[in-house]
Amino acid sequence: MHNKNIIIIGGTDGIGRAIADQLVQNNTVLIVGRSKQKGEHFAASNPTNGKYLIADVSVLNNIPTIVSEIRAIFPSLDYIIHTADNLRVKRVNTEEGLEKSIALNYYSRVLLNQLLVGDDATYTPERIIHVAAAGFPSSKSFMKNFPLPEKASSFKGHGLGQLANDFYGLHMREKLAKKGIKINILNPGMVDTNIRRNGQFPTLAKKLLFPLLGLILKTRTPAEYVEVPLAIINGDNDAANQSILINSKGNRIKGSRNVNNAKTQQALYDFTTRQINDLLKSDKVERWL
Ligand SMILES: NC(=O)c1ccc[n+]([C@@H]2O[C@H](COP(=O)([O-])OP(=O)(O)OC[C@H]3O[C@@H](n4cnc5c(N)ncnc54)[C@H](OP(=O)(O)O)[C@@H]3O)[C@@H](O)[C@H]2O)c1
Repeated sequence: MHNKNIIIIGGTDGIGRAIADQLVQNNTVLIVGRSKQKGEHFAASNPTNGKYLIADVSVLNNIPTIVSEIRAIFPSLDYIIHTADNLRVKRVNTEEGLEKSIALNYYSRVLLNQLLVGDDATYTPERIIHVAAAGFPSSKSFMKNFPLPEKASSFKGHGLGQLANDFYGLHMREKLAKKGIKINILNPGMVDTNIRRNGQFPTLAKKLLFPLLGLILKTRTPAEYVEVPLAIINGDNDAANQSILINSKGNRIKGSRNVNNAKTQQALYDFTTRQINDLLKSDKVERWL
């Protein structure tokens, strides 16, 4: 892929940064994150094509301004890649009262896509990629978790947000296809990044689950994993052209019956869009995708 304008929200570190480092060699790449130092480092290492924007996307009311700033940098947009996330056990809420992980790994992605794509022909990306945890099983009672109960931990909010990405991606498939846009939700498997090293996990997961998963799935460096998203971005992965959910090796995930249930997908989208509009103080979205 050459001469494209690519935005990576959460591109200052981890998987997002590894994707940025590769794509910036032949394209213009704008990374978004909170770390000024990491943003400056990316731009200094790639003086011609590397750009950065310092922003906290967990606060939904920040997003309309962030989108205006992105539009001022890029006259047109070819790719949207979402990798922003954080992971805590103890509950942390944003100033808007959303649990912070789900605000970051789900709600902000929905609003950013909406405002970046909208009805604008110059802002019609070829593909949108969410790096989340595609394929995690979900129960029939999934929608009962919305809104996330006040007492639910941030770890629960994080998992719910990851799952919500699957419902969202599947729901958006047709809507985006009408505009010629593809969407994929990826599960990277075990990748050695900040979120895995420093994220808070319940003790049981750290002591039992991860060593077990480590035996089944090899932990990769971001530079090793990046081959999977790059093949998708370059159009070299047929599975990603046929299917929304993609596993750590780049293969199709069918998803459970529940995640493929169109009514649940619609219910989640309706709930999410209502909740986002309730939280937005101004610039409410009049017509959702
Ligand atoms: N690594 C794994 O093994 C693994 C496994 C399954 C799923 N995933 C998923 O893969 C995605 C990428 O994760 P990763 O492993 O690359 O994590 P990471 O290394 O921790 O990167 C997260 C990125 O999000 C940015 N970010 C965090 N809070 C932000 C905020 N409030 N506003 C804007 N940007 C923010 C961080 O930059 P700043 O600090 O500069 O803001 C960083 O660039 C996540 O959705 C994660 O859940 C990862």
